[in-house]
Amino acid sequence: MTDPTQEPRTRQDPSPDSPAMRSTCPVRPAPGSGERPGYLVTGYAEAREALADSRLSKDTAVFFAGKGSRRRLHPAVAHTMLAADPPRHTRLRRLVTKAFTTGAVAELRPFIARVTGELLDPWPAGEPFDVVAGLAVPLPVIVICELLGIPPHDRPQVQRWSGQLFAAGRPDVVDAASHAMAEYMTGLIAAKRRDPGDSLLDRLVAARDGDDHLSEDELVSLAVLLLVAGHETTTHTLGNALLALLQDPAALGRLVADPDGVPAALDELLRFDSAVSTATFRFTTEPVTLGGTDIPAGVPVLVAIGAANRDPVRFPDPDRLDLARDASAHLAFGHGIHRCVGAPLARAETEIALRALLTRFPGIRLAVPPDELKWRPTRLVRGLESLPVLASTR
Ligand code: HEM
Repeated sequence: MTDPTQEPRTRQDPSPDSPAMRSTCPVRPAPGSGERPGYLVTGYAEAREALADSRLSKDTAVFFAGKGSRRRLHPAVAHTMLAADPPRHTRLRRLVTKAFTTGAVAELRPFIARVTGELLDPWPAGEPFDVVAGLAVPLPVIVICELLGIPPHDRPQVQRWSGQLFAAGRPDVVDAASHAMAEYMTGLIAAKRRDPGDSLLDRLVAARDGDDHLSEDELVSLAVLLLVAGHETTTHTLGNALLALLQDPAALGRLVADPDGVPAALDELLRFDSAVSTATFRFTTEPVTLGGTDIPAGVPVLVAIGAANRDPVRFPDPDRLDLARDASAHLAFGHGIHRCVGAPLARAETEIALRALLTRFPGIRLAVPPDELKWRPTRLVRGLESLPVLASTR
């Protein structure tokens, strides 16, 4: 199905259509491009409703059954919690939430700050530097590897597989990376069983709900999901947030003068340019009427989070970055039962990295004209190939 949020034009601009279009036509058929027709949701209220509607299933195994897909994704990657409905989803999510506590994230803050500092140390003041390659890519992967207990010498390889899982238009690369990653995690879990530690993965191995515990396949699947879901999303949230500030001198100046304002500004930055531009796909299990549009059973529905976050009905003057607005109702982390498990970690990383950048380099500015910036041709996640800045201290 055609998704306007993925067209080259709209990669430059997170709004797939005009504010008027979003308000008057918040749910509409997205004409097929040789595949099955689907529906696109761009209105805020409708997006929220769709994300919480149990008639919109995430169980891709059901949707693709009998459709003869030639994909060879490893089952642990294909059937994650994010592609499950209750009761399976409820059970898996409960066990993850038990292991992935707010306390575990809070404990990581000094580590995140230290890694950020180490990544920024080699930056030559006043010289051009790529924030994506130098900070936004390595930071989340180092942090999630630390949290999961992945040994430092394995991290570069894990990072490569994780990147390959997002390789747009290369199903063979994605499928091969899914197998490599699943095999690696299987070995790591076996090692953790032999020699337990106190990482998140160890806690997942030990997680129980009464007599219920995670099966080996479920453990591998969760470990891969946490690694992948927390990597590119955080990378591009940081890149997009910094770019928004670099293009708005008043907002940038405000945070440079008061870096303690970064946590409060984060919601507006997440709303303004949401790295997850469309939620993962859902499909109707029965006919559904959404925003006055009748959607038949058995068709895919894409919720355009980036567009919903720019809906003028919910956020007046939505294409303006306004750090003073209350944007906490944004949908950047989704909504409903699949709302992002890693949101506290993602917030901590983005906040610490932005604060460090603005504190160290108060004169930071773009090193190239904005229209020379290249957006990645990936689906779902919207982010920059590179973000060259002059890391100026004045
Ligand atoms: C700023 C960075 C992040 C953004 C913008 C983000 C966004 C999202 C969104 C929109 C969803 C819901 C998708 C849907 O309903 O189709 C989601 C789910 C999820 N996210 Fe994140 N995420 C981020 C970082 C992280 C991190 C750091 C982790 C873990 C370490 C993580 C783990 C997950 C998991 C496990 C789910 C699935 C939850 C479920 O199915 O119940 N995310 N995320």
